[in-house]
Amino acid sequence: VSLRALNTFGIEAQAHAYLPVDAVETLQALRADASLMSLPRLVLGGGSNLLLTQDFGGLVLHMQGRGMAITGQDQDFTYVRAAAGESWHGFVQWTLAQGLGGLENLSLIPGSVGAAPIQNIGAYGIELKDRFHSLRAFDLERGEILTLDREACRFGYRDSVFKHALRDRAIVLDVSFALPRRWIANANYADVSQALEEQGITAPGPRDIAEAVIAIRTRKLPDPARIGNAGSFFKNPIVPARLRDRLLAQYANLVSYRVDDDHYKLAAGWLIDRCGWKGKSMGRAGVYEHQALVLVNRGGASGAEIARLAKAIQDDVLEKFGVQLEPEPVFI
Ligand code: EPU
Repeated sequence: VSLRALNTFGIEAQAHAYLPVDAVETLQALRADASLMSLPRLVLGGGSNLLLTQDFGGLVLHMQGRGMAITGQDQDFTYVRAAAGESWHGFVQWTLAQGLGGLENLSLIPGSVGAAPIQNIGAYGIELKDRFHSLRAFDLERGEILTLDREACRFGYRDSVFKHALRDRAIVLDVSFALPRRWIANANYADVSQALEEQGITAPGPRDIAEAVIAIRTRKLPDPARIGNAGSFFKNPIVPARLRDRLLAQYANLVSYRVDDDHYKLAAGWLIDRCGWKGKSMGRAGVYEHQALVLVNRGGASGAEIARLAKAIQDDVLEKFGVQLEPEPVFI
């Protein structure tokens, strides 16, 4: 099976076996099949956080379950649930159409609902964990459905338990969110406040913020339908305060955000940009013109070509700034 249409980098690679999953029964049947269970697994949603550097000699589980619903309400929250196979952006827009705010800052993030908790997607001042209630996942080891709350998911920056203890074992079926009934705008992120200001909007509602975020993302990030990419290719590195202070003394316009007393997060895009990589290419792999943190497929690139470019960038940033960049997508 070709995976080309199933990854947003648009990279050609073959999978040994492929299973579309739209119900838990499919996973139960899989569990009973010893030969399929012996294969390495790749759980695929929108394929937007994936770099295929070679063919995959295992089983691809393509999550396709659909459905979105308002499931309840209490004094503080409205609860909504979406199946893993729904598009994330489609789900966010659906909540807004129901008159529910809370997810608008996460508009236009590529990928599926089921993939969103795996890396705790985040943008413009909000992370998934801030609105998360719980999720249901099928445990392929034990054959039972698990319900995990926020704490059990161990969310961190672009991180969760699904990248560690439950990796390849718990298959997310659906995700529930708690959306605040007393909605408060989160428009502190400089790009967002500036976009609203330009529109002359002083008291933005959820839709105004969604529109601002969509406009910013459209300007800064390539549309995977046109230019293959996986969003930010590197995480923003968290470094000791000492290193950040030393770099700041040397580069007055260094972009950094305080994490705690001893740590700062640096803008990886800024570091890469400063190494002169923005807009550059190596073969058919390139660095996006408007955002140095995004690597792109300029047409027909192999995953190995993208990985080579990534390595060259990592080497340069390490040499110039003494900072090790860590890729965000999963490498196969
Ligand atoms: N910058 C540069 N040159 C560049 C890119 C960025 O100097 O080529 C500077 C910007 O001027 C800015 C700073 O770096 O001062 C940060 O840039 P930006 O606000 O665009 O955000 P980011 O740190 O590059 C992160 C997330 C994005 C998310 C945005 C908005 C990560 C790895 N990336 O990007 O998430 O949309 O913030 O919140 O945390 C993703 O994960 O795929 C993703 C797109």
